Amino acid sequence: VPIIFSSAGSPAVVSEQLRSAGRVHVHVVAAVRQAKKCEDLGLDAVVCEGVEAGGHNAPQGTTSLCLIPQIADAVTVPVIAAGGIADGRAMAAALALGAEGVQVGTRFAVCAESSAHQAYKDAVIQAGDRDTVLAMSPVTPVRLIRNAFADRAIQAERSGQDREALAALLGRGRGRAGIFCGDLDEGEIEAGQISGLIDDLPGAAELVERMVSEYRSSTQALPEA
Ligand SMILES: Cc1cc2nc3c(=O)[nH]c(=O)nc-3n(C[C@H](O)[C@H](O)[C@H](O)COP(=O)(O)O)c2cc1C
Repeated sequence: VPIIFSSAGSPAVVSEQLRSAGRVHVHVVAAVRQAKKCEDLGLDAVVCEGVEAGGHNAPQGTTSLCLIPQIADAVTVPVIAAGGIADGRAMAAALALGAEGVQVGTRFAVCAESSAHQAYKDAVIQAGDRDTVLAMSPVTPVRLIRNAFADRAIQAERSGQDREALAALLGRGRGRAGIFCGDLDEGEIEAGQISGLIDDLPGAAELVERMVSEYRSSTQALPEA
């Protein structure tokens, strides 16, 4: 495997080992300080992930729009933008903000080749712009489509339950249950805020071609300064 992406935790745990093995190492960050640390450790690039993103998230909750330019200004390594990117318009915006590439999560989770359960894909396709929530923040913030489990988790947080109680409520394996087993009530249906824009199930190649074409037309359509 020539290129390795790490996330959730310190990249220092594996950076030396990966560098000496000649691997390209990219780490997911959600703050300027983390991006600088990755650069100091000699990593090859960072993924800059905003709070819009599906799945596990950083507690500080900075949006892609604010995070990308701040990280792009702070480091010299390439910045790959993630969080809220599902079409060519968002790709153009991310590149305009200083990113050199994009990482697309929810959109590719809902394509023909994705190994996600059909019920998960249908749930994302049916979701609107207000249907995701950030739950379990005191334990491990995760953005998911609102369901019975998410409602219970948010209720527990609001009623002041402590970290241990929330961790017990979370249990284990909910991500797998929601994404791969299609448990729409008790699983974590991890998906980003951009779910509301996703309304079809194309193949991955078609998606990439579409994104490139949208990128071109959206940049050409920008008004003259
Ligand atoms: C279903 C799903 C599962 C994910 N699992 C992981 C994971 O295991 N590790 C990780 O670093 N990021 C994971 N992510 C985050 C993506 O890698 C990506 O950064 C994020 O989805 C980008 O935001 P978007 O969903 O708005 O496109 C996951 C995202 C989704 C939607």
